[in-house]
Amino acid sequence: MSEAGAALDVLLTEERRFPPPEHSRKGAVVADRGPYERAERDRLAFWESWAEELDWFEGWHTVLEWEPPHAKWFVGGRLNAAHNCLDRHLEGPRRDKPALIWEGEPGDTRSFTYAELHAEVSRLANALKGLGVQKGDRVAIYLPMIPEAAIAMLACARIGAPHSVVFGGFSPEALADRINDAQARVLVTADGGYRRGGVVPLKLNSDKALEACPSLESVVVVERGEELSRGIEVPMTAGRDHFYSDLVAEASSECPAEPMDSEDLLYILYTSGTTGTPKGVVHTTGGYLTQVSATTKCVFDLREDDVYWCTADVGWVTGHSYIVYGPLANGATVLMYEGAPDWPRNDRFWDICARYGVTVFYTAPTAIRAFMKWGERWPAKHDLSRLRLLGTVGEPINPEAWMWYHRVVGGGRCPIVDTWWQTETGAIMITPLPAVTTTRPGSATEPFPGIRATLLDDDGNEVNAGFLAITEPWPSMMRTIYGDEQRYRDTYWSKWDGIYFPGDGAKYDNDGYLWILGRVDDVLNVAGHRIGTMEVESALVDHEAVVEAAVVGKTHDVKGQAIAAFVTLREGVDGSQALEGRLREHVVQKIGAIARPEIVVFAADLPKTRSGKIMRRLLKDVAEGHRLGDTTTLADPAVVEALQMKYGGEED
Ligand code: PRX
Repeated sequence: MSEAGAALDVLLTEERRFPPPEHSRKGAVVADRGPYERAERDRLAFWESWAEELDWFEGWHTVLEWEPPHAKWFVGGRLNAAHNCLDRHLEGPRRDKPALIWEGEPGDTRSFTYAELHAEVSRLANALKGLGVQKGDRVAIYLPMIPEAAIAMLACARIGAPHSVVFGGFSPEALADRINDAQARVLVTADGGYRRGGVVPLKLNSDKALEACPSLESVVVVERGEELSRGIEVPMTAGRDHFYSDLVAEASSECPAEPMDSEDLLYILYTSGTTGTPKGVVHTTGGYLTQVSATTKCVFDLREDDVYWCTADVGWVTGHSYIVYGPLANGATVLMYEGAPDWPRNDRFWDICARYGVTVFYTAPTAIRAFMKWGERWPAKHDLSRLRLLGTVGEPINPEAWMWYHRVVGGGRCPIVDTWWQTETGAIMITPLPAVTTTRPGSATEPFPGIRATLLDDDGNEVNAGFLAITEPWPSMMRTIYGDEQRYRDTYWSKWDGIYFPGDGAKYDNDGYLWILGRVDDVLNVAGHRIGTMEVESALVDHEAVVEAAVVGKTHDVKGQAIAAFVTLREGVDGSQALEGRLREHVVQKIGAIARPEIVVFAADLPKTRSGKIMRRLLKDVAEGHRLGDTTTLADPAVVEALQMKYGGEED
């Protein structure tokens, strides 16, 4: 953690403090430290009070059963997530309130009231049933950011079919792996989607994937638009493929919500870990919905007339928890945008904020750093005065980006919530509360009420700087890794006894605030996307020219980290520029564009310990141009020196 330590020294010279602005306290969901005190006194009663805010078909008899590493929350209770996001809002004035306002990248728009969204979800739920989907069957979703993505998730939830959403930027191979791991029966995809003016051919990608997916029986194809389908091929396989519009046209808009056990599976979401295969993170229903709805309400201080915009993609957990389940469970108006922030110009986000009167805006530090680079003149063109609260998630935010966000986007008046959490935690865990917490730029501050976090060393001693650790179970925690219980135990629960290990390093400051420093394992965070070094390495060695590969992260001013690949080639193969390009494309083909290595270095040898383990730490030093760390354990110290000469890293 030497590098993280250096970053920290910079962070800790950051002395600015921002008390909650007076205006944020009026009518705030949480206006004082009451919830912290209540949760401190009785954590389970605190969570129970949030569960009571949901609609249950049957009450629970026990709040928590905890047999490490397995938790059951609200045991015996029955509820349905889609019912909680839709049906229960239909009784009162929310019935005709906009639930989802959507804008496509070309500028087309659609909007659904709660009543309309309910009807559409019910129709698709019936259509899925018509295709033979039953409670417990897995449905894969591979869609652009269009309303049907949320509709498909909720339709699955309605009939008790766990969904597995696969980010639309993943390659056919990555899609196939995920479909096969979950043994999905049905895939919901689209003809295509727009990205930066181009079309992503999702149906063609799906067809390629499905060549290797024997469990898959039916495909539902959403038609993104006439204009789009004229430009690309959309082959349909008779008997297997169905157009969405045909299916829903025939389906009834009445579909009873399936009463699910609190611990029934709501979804599987794949995320990267330290091996070459992604993990299917399993989330269940009652605890998940309780914590996502509580955190959405408190952290974003949600008010009835808010226009709430989270810029994540539904393919990631942020999209699941804070575009779909959290905000809709709270009856919010959610804005959704299909495309890129710089299309057609660098002010697209600010243009959207102004036109729709966005009040709460939640994005990632990598996006903020891109906005900074593009310059203040872009947000300055638009009226952002409706914004009242800003949020960030996905990686540590550097104080400079925090300050820019605060001053330029927030006009100096909006509190910023820096929210730390993970796919595995399901919901926000460490965060300021906007009307209560004095913030410090770069710090996620303190655990949400009811969450117990601390910092530990390898031996489980409490320390001031070390590994972040969650010491008590929480409602939205992952329940296991789909089909791989052992990996679940090994990855998260083997470091300490009964304590969750998230894989992040962190430190306390002298105010007692937490500063998250980033991953301490072989997981990279590239533009807020989690990528395992092993995944990229497996993709590289899959290429015929490659014998061995080692991948490390290199600091990048916008993406946070970029991928640097050190590659040993087969005897007689030339390390040409053309081959560099082919290797990059090979990784894109195997995983997706998010994993494209920025730097490819051909190496005659890789630095290894005497037992043959590649020393990534030294490669990181090479990539960063740092002075080399301890090389005494290397089998051949000359290897890394040669690499350093070749890469041209400067000593600092
Ligand atoms: O390293 C932490 C970083 O993102 C990781 C989780 O990635 P993922 O499961 O893809 O979920 C991202 C969205 C919840 C964490 O282990 N991370 C996330 N939020 C923050 C963060 N690092 C620092 N500060 C944050 N606010």
